[in-house]
Amino acid sequence: MAWTKVGTVREVPVGTMKQVTVDEEKITVYHLEEGFYATSDVCTHASEYLSTGSLDGRIVACPKHGGKFDVTSGAAVAFPCVVPLEVYPVEVRGEEVWLDFE
Ligand code: FES
Repeated sequence: MAWTKVGTVREVPVGTMKQVTVDEEKITVYHLEEGFYATSDVCTHASEYLSTGSLDGRIVACPKHGGKFDVTSGAAVAFPCVVPLEVYPVEVRGEEVWLDFE
């Protein structure tokens, strides 16, 4: 486990998401009403970046074919996505957002 600073709270307002890169992996950080979450940014269907899609509550929609995931669990919740996303622990430390990436 390796905690890495990936940005600040102000960079990701509530209801938005942002792509970050950790060890060459593309990860999306989401700021929901209930807190911060992070998943792989790469859609498990056909490798589109989810951070270029849309976020509605805890559901991110892929821009390529409209598949959806619950960003709090990584679960695929709409076809054609069936394989869950990798999820990563996130902590807010003061104004900083940290992510645990192995
Ligand atoms: S690439 Fe994401 S739904 Fe197809």
